[in-house]
Parts: sequence; C-alpha cells; structure tokens
Amino acid sequence: MKQLAKIAICSAVLATASAPTMAEAFKDEIKARQGYYQVIKYNFGVLGAMVKGKKDYDADTATTAANNIYNLSKLNNGMLWPKGSDNSQLDTTKAKPGIWENFDDVKQKHGNWQKAVKTLAGEAGNGLSSLKKSFGPVGKSCKSCHDEYKAK
Ligand code: HEC
Repeated sequence: MKQLAKIAICSAVLATASAPTMAEAFKDEIKARQGYYQVIKYNFGVLGAMVKGKKDYDADTATTAANNIYNLSKLNNGMLWPKGSDNSQLDTTKAKPGIWENFDDVKQKHGNWQKAVKTLAGEAGNGLSSLKKSFGPVGKSCKSCHDEYKAK
C-alpha cells in the first residue's frame, strides 16, 4: 500500500513536471516565429506609412523594406512550428490548432503570401502608384491567414 502511494505520488510529480517541460521546449520556437513576424511587420509598416501618405515615398527605402520582407518570405521556418505548439495548450502563442489540422490550406495561404511579396519586391521601387498596387494584395494575404489561423 505504501509502495502504491509512492508510485502514485511519483507519477503525479512526473505529470506536473512534464507539462512545463513541454512548454519550455516550445518557448524558443514560439519566440522565434513571433520575432520573425515582428520584423516583417516593421518592414511592412514602413511601406504602409508611404502608402497612406504619412511618410514621403522614397524608392530606396521602399525597395529595402520590400526586399527584406521578400528575403524573409524565403526562409524555411518549418522547425518553428512543432506539433502541439498551439493556443489550445499554451497561452504564449496565438497559433490555432487548425494550422496542424489543415496543413495543405496553410501551405497554400503561405504560398499566396510569398507570391504577393515577390510582386511587391519587384514593384515597390517603381514609384508610389506601383507600391500602392502591390501593397494591397500582400496585406490581404496576411489577413487571410490570420483570420483562419491566428487567434485575436
Ligand atoms: C500562412 C499564415 C500567415 C501569414 C501569411 C502571415 N501570418 Fe502573421 N502570424 C501567423 C500566425 C499563425 C501567427 C501567430 C504566431 C504565434 O503566436 O505563435 C502570426 C503572428 C503575427 C504577428 C504577431 C507576432 C507576435 O509578436 O506575437 C504579427 C505582427 C504578424 N503575424 C504579422 C504578419 C504580417 C504583417 C503578415 C503579412 C505581411 C503576416 N503576418 C502573414 C500566420 C501568418
């Protein structure tokens, strides 16, 4: 009986010990992918300010910001999205579990985003109207993924 209680206590300790360990294991990945999106957001914001007329259009700056996003869009970030690192288990992430359930759709949305970003990188330096024309579709592609897969 004493032995059984010991085992029960031991497994309870193990169970509580393994939960934070799992969160710990995803901490770096979640931080890295959120940081990745923050850098994208920064550069997208530089372009957005020009599009909205809050900053004067500058071809060099626009090209730099658009190329930064384009280069980031080419990273293979697969390692940053381990299964289970979603907001049903953790409060440190806004990633919905649907990402892992509808992976083909996520890939398609990501591919659409990459295409729109590539066009933006080609057009951002060609004048304000070219920037405006190619900026909108990128914003839509961010939103279409967030609407489905990122919690508010
Ligand atoms: C294919 C899907 C997808 C696309 C495309 C996408 N995002 Fe996200 N984004 C996400 C997911 C999922 C998260 C939640 C990440 C997390 O909290 O772990 C996120 C989080 C973010 C965050 C919050 C980061 C933080 O600090 O928590 C920002 C800002 C962001 N995205 C900006 C953008 C912008 C700007 C674009 C377009 C230029 C974009 N995203 C395109 C899926 C996407």
